[in-house]
Amino acid sequence: QAYTVVLPAAGQGKRMGAGHNKQFLLIDGVPLLIHTLRVFEGDSLCTSIILAVNEKETEEIQSLLKEYSIKKVTAVVIGGRERQQSVFEGLKAADDGIVLIHDAARPFITATIIHELVEETKRSGAAIVAVPLKDTIKLVSEDTIEKTEDRTKLWAAQTPQAFWLSDIMAAHQVAEDKGYEGTDDASILEYSGGKVKIVKGNYENFKVTTPEDLIFAEAMVASRRR
Ligand code: CTP
Ligand code: MG
Repeated sequence: QAYTVVLPAAGQGKRMGAGHNKQFLLIDGVPLLIHTLRVFEGDSLCTSIILAVNEKETEEIQSLLKEYSIKKVTAVVIGGRERQQSVFEGLKAADDGIVLIHDAARPFITATIIHELVEETKRSGAAIVAVPLKDTIKLVSEDTIEKTEDRTKLWAAQTPQAFWLSDIMAAHQVAEDKGYEGTDDASILEYSGGKVKIVKGNYENFKVTTPEDLIFAEAMVASRRR
């Protein structure tokens, strides 16, 4: 089953504090964004890649695509102020069928998990990659614990998240019209009453977010090379 992937890459990388978009930082000498693109470039089921980028970074990204021979990018669209808007812009450039939405900042997703996700989406209509929480989660008000959540039912949502294009487009339109701000794309579909399945992923698929993540990322590349 073929799919399109939308990669939101129009953030600022504020928590990384690198002074520019974190996706240009080098991991093992190669830009973070390229690591992520290579996964999809190398997956035969992926028919096209859509990038949502900051307008002022468009040229830099186009030249990276050339330099690293990334050939599946069919559209580079301008992202929005929030991730949700960047994704919606990307979806507008996607072809009908199954669409994956994947953070540009998660370079360690594997084709195996992507294929499990695509299969589950074919069966159920919508699915996301997620992992069971390792930490105990506390609901806190003003430094005091109000409640300890039941960890056995808590999962951390990752990406990719996969949908039929028409379903997720319609849900994004509803969210935009109603001013609903979701923190991921599953929550956007849930808001419209959609049901979303979980595909168990792994902890290697972390999002490069804060400075120490660069140390983990270097270690991941080294360990996969062994
Ligand atoms: N993203 C986007 N458009 C936005 C905000 C985020 O396309 N307006 C993208 C980022 O480029 C990233 C992904 O969404 O690949 C996940 O977001 P996050 O990890 O939060 O990245 P940033 O928003 O760049 O980082 P920060 O929140 O620390 O500023
Ligand atoms: Mg962000």
